[in-house]
Amino acid sequence: MFGSLKALPADPILGLLAKYREDANPQKIDLGVGVYKDEAGHTAILDCVKNAEKYRHDNEDTKVYIGPTGSPLFNEEMAKLIFGNHKVLSENRARTVSTPGGTGALRVAAEFIRSCKAGTTIWVSNPTWANHTGLFSAAGLTVKTYPYYDYENKTLDFEGMLAALKEVSADDAVLLHACCHNPSGMDLSQEQWQQVAEVAKDKGFLPVIDMAYQGFGDGLDEDAYGLRLMADSVEEMIVCSSCSKNFGLYRERIGATTIIGKSAAASDIANSVLLSVVRCIYSMPPAHGAAIVETILNSDELRHQWYGELKEMRDRINGNRQLIVEKLIENGVTRDFSHIVRQKGMFSFLGITPEQVQQLQDEYSIYMVGSSRMSIAGIANSNVDYLAQSIAKVL
Ligand code: LMR
Repeated sequence: MFGSLKALPADPILGLLAKYREDANPQKIDLGVGVYKDEAGHTAILDCVKNAEKYRHDNEDTKVYIGPTGSPLFNEEMAKLIFGNHKVLSENRARTVSTPGGTGALRVAAEFIRSCKAGTTIWVSNPTWANHTGLFSAAGLTVKTYPYYDYENKTLDFEGMLAALKEVSADDAVLLHACCHNPSGMDLSQEQWQQVAEVAKDKGFLPVIDMAYQGFGDGLDEDAYGLRLMADSVEEMIVCSSCSKNFGLYRERIGATTIIGKSAAASDIANSVLLSVVRCIYSMPPAHGAAIVETILNSDELRHQWYGELKEMRDRINGNRQLIVEKLIENGVTRDFSHIVRQKGMFSFLGITPEQVQQLQDEYSIYMVGSSRMSIAGIANSNVDYLAQSIAKVL
């Protein structure tokens, strides 16, 4: 049976991490995978997480099965984090399940969409997170793209995006990034969200919102602006969220899928299908990450500690955006890289060729995705001069 298999190339993002770890150059810089790093290049456990874990350690008294929904308290807190005081909650139209990470949330959403209609087309931005296409296709959906990033002008191709969305059929789903677009860092403005929400309402397609970076753009509520606006306009939608980045819980694998139905009764039916999807893939989600998040969100003290730590991460990344642009200028680079400062979240495209990306890796041990997507969190005061000098050389 296995004899027919052909080896596949390493994942474009995770493969890079493995190469970086093997590199012996002490000056190596990891701008690959989207993981927050502090000034020392370390991905520390947040203090609020440590405190929540201590509390759980002292108070948790069972490891019995949790059920396909996951922890009800986590689900409730996540729905509030996503929707604030939006009417979808008071109307009892949201149903949330805990999932193994944001990827698990997306896969559950994809399988749910397949249960609604086999072979549904899902439209994703061009470009999008490298794993979106693979995971939606693996769930039997047809993946098509709409224009998004204007590589030449380093801005949003909003006209192209809107024109493409106007052609999407009512039977299709459209994936939108809530904030901190991965890989471009280019987000929709509030006015642009308004227009996209109007098109969604007009055309009747299903919006599927991927929110993997809530709190990394402008703030927790600010980053949910677009999806809340969308929920004002449409009757049905899905939100896939992740606690990997904003709680720093990467390896705990905790996220959530939230389905909004037309009515409480319709949401109950959808939820029964959602639970069956979960049961058939992994039966029940892991509990530890959810327990940490619900402990933080359910305690005023830990919640405020988290707000502070999240702000620190956001501010450091924004500071890095400014820093690298200044250092490039200082190193004599005349090309305009100011788009990096205008973009949001963990990533931006540097905008160099794949050959130049490879040269940075081979000659300078600087690792970024082939598209020239940089994880801005990997920049630090200690490496930014070397980074800017190396970029200047390959340019
Ligand atoms: C990324 O885009 O780097 C992250 O979302 C990590 C991943 O799983 O790819």
